[in-house]
Amino acid sequence: MTYFNLENKVALVTGASSGIGKHFAKLLAKQGAKVVLGARRKEKLDTVVSEIIDAGGTAMSVVLDVTDPQSISAAFDNIYSHYGVVQVLSNNAGISDSTLALSTTEESWNSVLETNLTGGWRMAISMAKQCVENNVSGSIVNTASILGLRVSMGQSSYATSKAALIQLTRSLALELSRKKIRANALCPGYFLTELNEDYFQTDKGKKYIQSMPSQRLGQLNELDVPFLLLACEQAGSYMNGSVLVVDAGHSISNM
Ligand code: NAI
Repeated sequence: MTYFNLENKVALVTGASSGIGKHFAKLLAKQGAKVVLGARRKEKLDTVVSEIIDAGGTAMSVVLDVTDPQSISAAFDNIYSHYGVVQVLSNNAGISDSTLALSTTEESWNSVLETNLTGGWRMAISMAKQCVENNVSGSIVNTASILGLRVSMGQSSYATSKAALIQLTRSLALELSRKKIRANALCPGYFLTELNEDYFQTDKGKKYIQSMPSQRLGQLNELDVPFLLLACEQAGSYMNGSVLVVDAGHSISNM
């Protein structure tokens, strides 16, 4: 199937040392992309890079902190000298800090917004500028969340950051369309990763899962086709500014 062919494309995934980002990096490599894994923990990244290379793929790691503009520009220079222009960006790095609104500190609020929103903005702009300078097409896939579309107790900073990330996606889609760059948002429901594993192991977490329409968490491979649809030029050529929900009906329920 050529729809999902990424041969000769350079794909950068932020937050690739664990969870969804690690999964996307391996998936992109399977589709033939030269994959760059970015995150703050080099040892963890290099383990995933080795796994990709052992499976026959092409990959490298870059140490990247999305809250640090200098580390971003150093990463893009490094990638350019090894692989060339990044044409697929999976803006996936994200954090949450579960606190009720009245207990949320400035520090916590700023940290979540800085990582999930401003970090994603920095990455997208850096990637898009490089594509424009080199006159190549590009695809930005922002990992938002169903909490960008609804709210949940204790998630005011996270939900706000993801809602804003969706609006950023739509704004970029509008402005970059004529420059051959598409921007779309993926909104997963709940998938078990480091971000939420503590909560879903508690009795409260288990009870919550039972209240969801699907009564189970998503499995990472259930994000594969939706993600590739947005990432790949052939598959998603007419998708720009879309907000793709993958949640087994969670966000249309009242739970
Ligand atoms: P995770 O905690 O396993 O992965 C987050 C990744 O982001 C880690 O690799 C971490 O090192 C990286 N990261 C955090 N701050 C960073 C920074 N300043 N610079 C560079 N990298 C940084 O969690 P998960 O679940 O894989 O999350 C990935 C994305 O998916 C996040 O944006 C999250 O909000 C989103 N998401 C996750 C859902 C889930 O159920 N797991 C549901 C909806 C969205």
